[in-house]
Amino acid sequence: MKQKNLLYTGKAKSVYHTDTKDRLIVEFRDDITAFDGGKKDVLKNKGNYNAGVSAFFFDYLEKNGVKTHFFTMLDPHHMVVRKLEMIPLEVIVRNVAAGSIVRNYPFREGTLLDPPLIVIDYKDDARHDPMLNDEIIIALKLVTPAELKKIKKVALEINRLLSAVLAAQGITLVDFKIEFGRQGKMIYLGDEISMDSMRLWDKKTGESLDKDVYRFEKGDVMAIYNRVAQRITKSGKKP
Ligand code: ATP
Ligand code: TYD
Repeated sequence: MKQKNLLYTGKAKSVYHTDTKDRLIVEFRDDITAFDGGKKDVLKNKGNYNAGVSAFFFDYLEKNGVKTHFFTMLDPHHMVVRKLEMIPLEVIVRNVAAGSIVRNYPFREGTLLDPPLIVIDYKDDARHDPMLNDEIIIALKLVTPAELKKIKKVALEINRLLSAVLAAQGITLVDFKIEFGRQGKMIYLGDEISMDSMRLWDKKTGESLDKDVYRFEKGDVMAIYNRVAQRITKSGKKP
């Protein structure tokens, strides 16, 4: 497969057309950003770790009945995916209170959220990704009521599957963000599932194992991404 012209470049990934219909190549770059792009760096090999973990999870989810955009890796930072019309929703699943929900609401950090919470933001950098509710989502015609129900069901199933794999490695899945897209009538999981889009805590030490290390300068980001990627991808495919 040949990489063609650039379709889109975001904060951490670039997306390219290919010579094959309905296939795109996603390049996981070494750029890392936080706080709406207010903090930015380039960290060597960061793209590889995120791509490797994303590929591992997409493969695992597919084997467990979740439809994803993933086809294959071309090299450690180029992923071949199904071309989707992305739905501008950031679907966040939370098992433990942390991050914005603690900043914006009177939850105490570390409180178990059982059942897990689903929070959906509108993906729009200019508006700083405001939180939506079901009525706004439907009124904006971003998805139909049936699609919204399906997206929430799939998000909870993804949470169950990822939590189990991570727990087997001694890692708590605190929260994560996923994005969905359409091809025709079908909805697929797109984008990435990586240390940039999940919040992970070591079950024994409580140590952060994700982008919070970069956000709050908690340690050597690349050493932690490397270690976590090894822990996750060496975990085998069965929880
Ligand atoms: P954010 O960091 O808030 O997610 P971004 O747009 O800067 O925003 P990047 O990850 O750098 O994010 O860019 C990747 C872009 O590619 C995103 O806009 C994402 O929605 C889009 N994308 C992901 N998977 C697919 C796909 N299968 N088909 C088409 N576009 C996709
Ligand atoms: P959240 O607590 O809302 O924001 P912050 O990370 O600023 O405290 O994030 C919840 C989870 O979703 C966290 O694991 C990071 C991920 N996420 C993204 O990957 N991209 C986003 O744009 C947002 C808002 C969250």
